Amino acid sequence: MELKFEAKPIEQVESDAVIVVAFDKDSAASGLTPEVTMAANAATGGWIEEVYESGEFAGKPFDMSLLHRPTGLMAKRLLVVGGGKGAKFSGAELRNATAAAVRFLKSKGARSMALALDAGPALEDLATAAAEGAILGDYEPDQYKTGEKDTHAVETFSVAAPGAPGGMNEFLDRALIVAEAQNFARALASEPANRMTPSVLAQRAREMCFGSALQCEVMDQATMRQLGMGALLAVAQGSAEPPALIILRYHPFEETDGAPHLGLVGKGVTFDSGGISIKPSENMDKMKYDMCGGAAVLGAMQAIARLAPSIRVTALIPAVENMPGSRAQRPGDIVTTLSGKTVEVLNTDAEGRLILADALTYARQQGCTHLVDAATLTGAIVVALGHLYTGAFGNDEALLDQTLAAARAAGEKLWPMPLDEEYKDELKSPFADLPNIGTRWGGAITAAMFLKQFADPTPWVHLDIAGTAWLEEKKPYMPKGPTGVAVRTLVRLATGWEEK
Ligand code: BES
Ligand code: MN
Ligand code: ZN
Repeated sequence: MELKFEAKPIEQVESDAVIVVAFDKDSAASGLTPEVTMAANAATGGWIEEVYESGEFAGKPFDMSLLHRPTGLMAKRLLVVGGGKGAKFSGAELRNATAAAVRFLKSKGARSMALALDAGPALEDLATAAAEGAILGDYEPDQYKTGEKDTHAVETFSVAAPGAPGGMNEFLDRALIVAEAQNFARALASEPANRMTPSVLAQRAREMCFGSALQCEVMDQATMRQLGMGALLAVAQGSAEPPALIILRYHPFEETDGAPHLGLVGKGVTFDSGGISIKPSENMDKMKYDMCGGAAVLGAMQAIARLAPSIRVTALIPAVENMPGSRAQRPGDIVTTLSGKTVEVLNTDAEGRLILADALTYARQQGCTHLVDAATLTGAIVVALGHLYTGAFGNDEALLDQTLAAARAAGEKLWPMPLDEEYKDELKSPFADLPNIGTRWGGAITAAMFLKQFADPTPWVHLDIAGTAWLEEKKPYMPKGPTGVAVRTLVRLATGWEEK
């Protein structure tokens, strides 16, 4: 998709469709309607007022009404999309409203679209969010549908605002990089497990790094053995597919001794059958998404390489398939992790924390001064937060706050979760240093507490994206499937590091 900025009044915007936002009735009554929406109303002889009066449009989120051949406008169609409460409207709402509008219009055959905004202090944020929304809305996980596709990709999307300051294209360029990175993560995650093995994921990472500012290294099983990554190897041993530890390195233009070095760690379980502690067959197909954390980290690195922040970043993605083969680990096995700590594997389905333990230790050995991991780690986080918020845990208040702020700025929903030392009482093994599962309660917290043992004392944040990494039921702004959650937060964290 080509993105461009046009400093034109709405009347002069040429495209298959021009989009304006209108708020709910109360907001409209209190004069919160955007000027550009009033202009569209005036040009069309009061069409927008009329759709409100007819009852077909109330300005609620994702309400839409479409007018063909709007008088007074050069665009072929005018779409009014609801923005909800005007006073609450910000980039996050506009990102989704734009994505919904794009999905609607492309289903009607439009190939070029424009969104008209008012120039003003919020324009940079709004234009960025809208451009991201357009690219995110254009994504379809339909690569395995043969024959004629239902919709075609959008060719151009422009943001139009008369009297905008110069330099707007820079914001759109950044939006393109970030949203394409998120769609790249979604594309990786949407591959089924027969086509996305650990080796394939590693190959995709290599291809992504080719010709970029990133160095890529893929650690193989033999090296993991030499180093003593007993936990990662134990999970991998039940599968015929060999594991891979994917390592991507980004170096800033200027490096100084003692400068921060961010480590991004992503869970890359390409299929989680549960292992010998096998999962029920219902919904087991969803476990192809158990590499969404790894996909998010790869996507974030793609954007980081293009945006060139001034902080050093290393990505580590332990990639394995968790299978109940004849060589599989058994409940009760005791493994020695890279850190030297021993773990009693009481449940082979708690595999994510095992592979992350070794990856976190390795990240620390590589000199990372700050760690952030993203993982579809527990069903318990879905019980706690549902599908709206990602759970955020950490051992360092400053880094946790920084991550929450990055998420807010990037328009992703993160909720802080507790991680008091007392929770460690849940992780006691009579035979090893710690078990890989806790008791019945607070499962997302005990999983995080397990990881903490391997991250400490390095400042670390853990994002449990099990509830947010994929969408069960399609939304107006997103199809069913992978969401690419965490990409924008991770990118913002790296690019915004010096501003903190
Ligand atoms: N990959 C799952 C977590 C998961 C569950 C992700 C549902 C998305 C949706 C993870 O490896 C797992 O199986 N966790 C277990 C842990 C338990 C055995 C302590 C769980 O959450 O049930
Ligand atoms: Mn599991
Ligand atoms: Zn898993």
